Amino acid sequence: SNSSGSIFSIDSNPTPVTPGERYKLLQNPVFGRVFTDHMATARFTPGRGWHDMRIQARGEFKLDPASLVFHYAQEIFEGMKAYRMPDGSAALFRPDANARRFRSSAVRLAMEPLPEEIFLESVRALVRIDRDWIPSAEGAALYLRPFMIATEVLVGMKPSSDYLYCVVASPVGSYFKGGAPAVTLWVSENFTRAAPGGTGAAKCGGNYAASLAAQAEASREGCDQVVFLDAVERRWVEELGGMNVFFVFDDGSLQTPPLTGTILPGITRDSLIVLARDMGLTVREEPYAIDQWQADAASGRLREAFACGTAAVVTPIGKVKGRRHDLTVGDGGAGPVTMRLKAALLDIQQGRAPDPHGWMDRL
Ligand code: PLP
Ligand code: COI
Repeated sequence: SNSSGSIFSIDSNPTPVTPGERYKLLQNPVFGRVFTDHMATARFTPGRGWHDMRIQARGEFKLDPASLVFHYAQEIFEGMKAYRMPDGSAALFRPDANARRFRSSAVRLAMEPLPEEIFLESVRALVRIDRDWIPSAEGAALYLRPFMIATEVLVGMKPSSDYLYCVVASPVGSYFKGGAPAVTLWVSENFTRAAPGGTGAAKCGGNYAASLAAQAEASREGCDQVVFLDAVERRWVEELGGMNVFFVFDDGSLQTPPLTGTILPGITRDSLIVLARDMGLTVREEPYAIDQWQADAASGRLREAFACGTAAVVTPIGKVKGRRHDLTVGDGGAGPVTMRLKAALLDIQQGRAPDPHGWMDRL
């Protein structure tokens, strides 16, 4: 059944959503609530390796309740986007970087690493078959969620022998409700996200489960997102629940926390460092203390701050609150450097600008 030339066999959904219904679903979808007609799946079994690579109708899994993932959370995932280009074609943004990060997450969680070529083929094949689900509004995209779970039937404590890999796709607009011109952060003093030697640099579900109580506290305090401090000194700004963070100073330079193993190495973060340097801006990967943030906001040395990630793209940070902190960045709105970087990134991703770094994977 494989006429696509892909290593994934194609079984089209016999009852896809109608074009009229799809059109309605694509109008301003809530982030992560709407899904396409298909999914990609593959399995790993010792002795057989990776097999059963299929594109099929999106549907339920049948899993034994003793599958290891349910007990010890051996699970990893990725988040990436496909965009509609001005000529109507589809393109993925830096999928090779997601494939690489998925591999390193697998290694950290003692899971079977998925060959990067299988990862790339899975997302490409899924976007090709569900291309009509890519929204075309400014800032909208098809969000792809590759993930892998431990499926060995065992409640003994060891790495799983068997794995299920899957990719689902979800048309998305803005991550923050109302498109949020600038977000407010809550400084978590009660919780940290990741300790040295832990899983902070891996994209595993457990990190996100562990951040939910902190995020709930942020919401109760009327804030949009939690910002975590380092687990050792409780002093250095690490990242948000699902985004990296940048600071812009009065001398025009930028700073972002270094990749020391406790934060996620964001692909948006990496891309913005490159784009900022292309613009002639200085970017430092150096620790920034939360008390310094308070002082620099008050003195005016800090002009802008923003969060970045696949889901959030580039989102200005307007205010920061906490048990010991209360500050406004600049005038509390979107700053010019932030907006210039956001535009530069989106212009490449949406195919309006040249792609000098070869980031777009056109399908
Ligand atoms: N940090 C965390 C904790 C995240 O969940 C994400 C989102 O994926 C990021 C940072 C940003 O990473 P990326 O730019 O690769 O999406
Ligand atoms: C992403 O940006 O892809 C993420 O995983 C963030 C998540 C909070 C949706």
